[in-house]
Amino acid sequence: MNARQNGGLTPPNLSLHALMNPEPVFVLRTMDDRPFIPLHWTERLHDDMLKRAELNYSELSERRTTRDFSDRDVDRRLIELAILSGSTAPNGAHLQPWTWVAIRNEELQIRLREAAEHEERKTYSERMPEAWSEVLTPLGTDAVKAHLTDAPWVVVLFKQKKRQRSNGEWGPTYYATESCGIAAGMFIQAVHNMGLVTLTHTPSPMGFLRELLERPRHEEAVLVMPIGYPAEDAMVPDIHRKTLDQVAVFFDEQS
Ligand SMILES: Cc1cc2nc3c(=O)[nH]c(=O)nc-3n(C[C@H](O)[C@H](O)[C@H](O)COP(=O)(O)O)c2cc1C
Repeated sequence: MNARQNGGLTPPNLSLHALMNPEPVFVLRTMDDRPFIPLHWTERLHDDMLKRAELNYSELSERRTTRDFSDRDVDRRLIELAILSGSTAPNGAHLQPWTWVAIRNEELQIRLREAAEHEERKTYSERMPEAWSEVLTPLGTDAVKAHLTDAPWVVVLFKQKKRQRSNGEWGPTYYATESCGIAAGMFIQAVHNMGLVTLTHTPSPMGFLRELLERPRHEEAVLVMPIGYPAEDAMVPDIHRKTLDQVAVFFDEQS
């Protein structure tokens, strides 16, 4: 990579030198003088990489969407850490276009459940096309949303569709849907990793959440995620994940 390709930050041989040299040697700046810092990165031995990758996959394989929650309480700090973890997600133009609304409030959870069940009853009885119900039936879902009041916490993720610019005008956010999807994935991973369970619930339609949770017009609810411990008798559908061959295509000249 030459200096132009790496943004004019360093002469071509310096980034390797910076990685090898433990001393913090550079204050890197772009041409328009915005501050850059050296990348913090740890090189790992191949065996260690493989072990970590296997472990990560094995732990993620254990994750299941859980619809039966215990009412056992969860420390607020754990929820804060899950939100912080989700918020490390890569995101369009670094606008971080998300708001996490974390609820541990019995009265509000009851109102949330009533409103969600009101919509879901209509969806299940009138609005759901057959192509949708045929794939939901094996999952055993219905219009009863007990998890919204059983789980100690419910986190609702809102996508910010617009942002206020420094001149006060409204401008768009970029790739907010993708960004929130990635953030939700990282949040779910964090919840799983700390030993709790969640459900990615999408009451349909979700418009009622903005009003109920007093969010502004430029925000749109994308996911409702109850979080807690599973009920002692929690059951999950016996479903299977696609194999690598079914989900991936490689163009790999080395195999
Ligand atoms: C965007 C999205 C929306 C979902 N909406 C619902 C939902 O409204 N209700 C529900 O019970 N599960 C919902 N799920 C959970 C899926 O049904 C579940 O992830 C899928 O069946 C795979 O099961 P697993 O998560 O245990 O691997 C949703 C998942 C995603 C990613």
